[in-house]
Amino acid sequence: MTPISVFADEEALAEALATHIIEKIRRTPALVLGLPTGRTPLALYRRLAARAQEADWSRVRTFNLDEFVGTGGGEPGSYRALMDAELFDHVGVPPEGRGFLDGRASDLDGECRRYEQEIAAAGGIDLLVLGIGGNGHIAFNEPGDTLIARTHRVALDPQTRAANAWLFAGDLSRVPQEALTMGMATILQARAIALVATGPGKAEAVQQALEGPVTTRLPASFLQLHPAWSVWLDDDARPRRASRR
Ligand code: PGA
Repeated sequence: MTPISVFADEEALAEALATHIIEKIRRTPALVLGLPTGRTPLALYRRLAARAQEADWSRVRTFNLDEFVGTGGGEPGSYRALMDAELFDHVGVPPEGRGFLDGRASDLDGECRRYEQEIAAAGGIDLLVLGIGGNGHIAFNEPGDTLIARTHRVALDPQTRAANAWLFAGDLSRVPQEALTMGMATILQARAIALVATGPGKAEAVQQALEGPVTTRLPASFLQLHPAWSVWLDDDARPRRASRR
């Protein structure tokens, strides 16, 4: 059974997940984390930043899930800039420990291969934190007829681009059409996965991921195949049958 935790609100969820991550770093100082962007993890990053002194982050390695094509150098709108502002400016992961895809690389396929090699060289990901799109995507693995196993270039769904417009001052026309993303096998090879969802707009996708068929039409449903995934929800994102903690 998948452990599902439901919290009263996103702050309580963020506090508990921050505690979980801090405890893991204390046990395993060279922890390898996979990290999401988007709005969902911002409360978590705020809590980790506030509690930065509770763990030594100097040996932690991180790998972000995805990045927009055309960004990646920390310019406004890039996920790298978001991560710096929200987390890395506050916790002591050294710059060389922070793994990012570079959406500005001249050879994007080569950049994807480099990322896979870097993750493998780090010994794989110990804990991957994931958000979920309202359409059931994880990282930028969008619903479709097929899924791609490894880190790759992807065209973003209109719904996904709209959900990211806030990063570009609300201007949808500035949201890149494409991104680089870890693939489904990259994600499923993580030793543990924490799926985080908050707000009513995620409840249906969460319910389908937990209880629906495993289908490329809802990439998060593939998490059902993972032996060590946990689901962290606020009350609004809770499927009706999951009881509140
Ligand atoms: P959000 O995105 O946190 O901005 O809702 C989640 C995701 O698309 O994975």
